[in-house]
Amino acid sequence: MYSILLNFRNEITRQGLVKDMKQIGVGLLGFGTVGAGVVKGLQERRELLAQKIGADIVLRRIADLDIKSDRGVTVDPAILTTEASEVINDPAVDVVVELIGGTGIAKTLVMEALRAGKSVVTANKKLLAEYGEEIFTLAEESEVDIYFGASVGGGIPIVRVLREGLVGNAIVSMYGILNGTCNYILTRMENEGLPFDDVLKEAQAAGYAESNPSLDIDGFDTAHKAVILASLAYGFHVPMSVAAVEGIRGLAGIDVKFASELGFKIKLLAIIRGEGDEVEVRVSPTLVAVDHVLASVSGVFNAVMVKGDYTGDTLYYGRGAGRKPTASTVIGDICDIARNMIAGGPRHSRGIVRLPSEPPRMRSVSESRSRYYLRLMVLDRAGSLGRFTTILGSHGVSIQAVSQKCGAEVTDSDYQPVVALTHVAREADIEAALAEIRASGVIGGEPVKIRILD
Ligand code: HSE
Repeated sequence: MYSILLNFRNEITRQGLVKDMKQIGVGLLGFGTVGAGVVKGLQERRELLAQKIGADIVLRRIADLDIKSDRGVTVDPAILTTEASEVINDPAVDVVVELIGGTGIAKTLVMEALRAGKSVVTANKKLLAEYGEEIFTLAEESEVDIYFGASVGGGIPIVRVLREGLVGNAIVSMYGILNGTCNYILTRMENEGLPFDDVLKEAQAAGYAESNPSLDIDGFDTAHKAVILASLAYGFHVPMSVAAVEGIRGLAGIDVKFASELGFKIKLLAIIRGEGDEVEVRVSPTLVAVDHVLASVSGVFNAVMVKGDYTGDTLYYGRGAGRKPTASTVIGDICDIARNMIAGGPRHSRGIVRLPSEPPRMRSVSESRSRYYLRLMVLDRAGSLGRFTTILGSHGVSIQAVSQKCGAEVTDSDYQPVVALTHVAREADIEAALAEIRASGVIGGEPVKIRILD
């Protein structure tokens, strides 16, 4: 198949079709890993893309503070600059691609590009999660397109799925494994029985995890992606402040082991649910039954399970980061803008469509309901276990199964690990029960509470 495509490409080049096509100029801000991937992709696929979309996409300028380092791609030095404004204000640049990241200079430059009437492609989840409203409004006022496919899921075109393929559905729920670093750490903890800190250090040494891993392991990167998905699904800008965020920092190996014995894997999940006139957005470590399709998503892979009211469950899986997968989605966005331009102008993609109706109410964390895994170090005295279960019962929390753990993990003779799985309970009731259990003196240390995906 690939050779057919190559022959076809050679044929196109021979015939010089690209020469006669409308040219769409691209300017790149940020020549890092993904930026270099986009450059390479646009170079390698230029003729093929031209044939597929009917326009010649030409890389006109690249701005980066460092224009000397080797990125593994050859570019004409004349197109490199350290001045982003030279890219934005170049009349031959139609589409500005922002791959700088963060909310500092990236925000200024995206706003500048939109004001200059340039359509924008960005992979910047933090920027859109925190300033999406302002940025999308400006894009509308400027009558240009803004595309952000690579902001969630890297090479998985999930943004496009929500905007296009599933647009006819009311979205019932979305469950996402959206951070490869966390999924890699959790997978190794489970498969090799390694402690969290050891895996994190190794991941940093291997370059998988950032030297400051907070954005990943404290759940914020997943939350940025979750609010973008929720905004796309429910048609209003979901602010970061409404997302309940809990990461995997310090997750104990003992809980990964107990969960596994009970038939679960622990995953950092983005959970987005629409129920009646309420929407819930949260990020938390979650027990996923081993036979659930998300349990088989291992290592750095991402996946999103979307349930539409018409489709039922649908699943999207792939590489959520990395040079080529992310470049693939960025190039897809550039091509969509090119198609719009050929068709006569921006499609006013409007970023996140705002529905005229009242936005749904955000469900507070304390009102959300789930089954729970609880692990407590219970005082090894007559009646302690009874006390603990009685307190749960008095708060309306019904226990489905409880077990006192024996074995190598039991090292402290005064406190023994006890694991309880609850029936569906309100988070507020669980919290109230745990507060009373703490105060009762029947446990040592902090109780561990992890939701179970049903
Ligand atoms: N740091 C993210 C991850 C990729 O580990 O998946 C960028 O959002």
